[in-house]
Amino acid sequence: MIRIGMLTSGGDCQALNAAMRGVAKTMYNSREDVEIYGFLNGYQGLIYGRFRLLSYADFSGILTEGGTFLGSSRTPYKTIREPDENGLDKVAAMKQNYHKLQLDCLVILGGNGTHKTANLLREEGLNVVTLPKTIDNDLWGTDMTFGFQSAVDVATDAIDRIHTTAASHGRVFIVEVMGHKVGWLTLNAGMAGGADIILIPEIPYDIDKVAAKIRERHDRGSRFTILAVAEGAISREDAKLSKKDYRKKQENSKYPSVSYEIADRLSKKCGFDVRVTVPGHTQRGGTPCPYDRVFASRLGSEAAKMILKREFGYMVGYKNREMVKVPLEDVAGKLKMVDPKASIVEEAKMLGICFGD
Ligand code: F6P
Repeated sequence: MIRIGMLTSGGDCQALNAAMRGVAKTMYNSREDVEIYGFLNGYQGLIYGRFRLLSYADFSGILTEGGTFLGSSRTPYKTIREPDENGLDKVAAMKQNYHKLQLDCLVILGGNGTHKTANLLREEGLNVVTLPKTIDNDLWGTDMTFGFQSAVDVATDAIDRIHTTAASHGRVFIVEVMGHKVGWLTLNAGMAGGADIILIPEIPYDIDKVAAKIRERHDRGSRFTILAVAEGAISREDAKLSKKDYRKKQENSKYPSVSYEIADRLSKKCGFDVRVTVPGHTQRGGTPCPYDRVFASRLGSEAAKMILKREFGYMVGYKNREMVKVPLEDVAGKLKMVDPKASIVEEAKMLGICFGD
């Protein structure tokens, strides 16, 4: 008998269900007797002992479903060692629930924060296998995370739709794309949607260069301009501030997000009416695209293969078109950012896309 505890933590994304189904189907199809316990709402379920014994039927019909049937929540790593409001030691509670259920391992699906806690649980002696989930594609140790391609589809669709209305009215439009502190989603959706300007956190922008690009397009007879702006985009001036000062600036900002500040500055510089569209959480919602369904299923299968071989302490990653095992201690606490010198950035520039640098 092999007993597995499964949980999904952090911001959700498409194909979480597909990934869990991949693990479960592979396990049930193996020769081992298997019990899978689902912890509800991420680490909260593991801390407070909220779980359900799952059956084959729970994993049936969920390949195409968005969200996570187990529920998710954010349980910040920063405070994981601090007792909760009732004085409960959260780490001790997670270990206790793991041992009470006599689990052989945990399968944890999550992004950056989730991986820090997963690695802590490994250090505490629990067997852990993780799967790389996030629309941001910012997990170190894997070229791709599931959810990313689906989010690229949604963000691209938003840019496509803005394109037609921007063209009709001759307007400048900003589409603000998610991605937290990295620009993978904006870069890919921006290129796919034919954005004229792409602003990402890894390449701090000069507002005058952005304004010059809009004017240049206008002077050449283009009636509209599309900017794909990452939610974490940062100006050259702001990039010089300390993290603390930048946070303070954002907290006191009159703008709801960076795009509104950029829009305001550009309107003043160019005299154009600059509109902002924020697709927000739609980028994480809805059904996974075919790529993510296949990719998440494969990752799930590989995780099960590792469990069957009793190989623990790894994230299943994807490197150079191969499935790989990445030690959790290597993943935890690192960000995979866009390299400003990467060929995709160079190619985008050759296509005439302005990054404001
Ligand atoms: O990490 C995924 C993500 O969607 C980021 O792109 C975004 O910055 C963040 O989560 C939003 O978090 P929340 O759903 O907690 O507002």
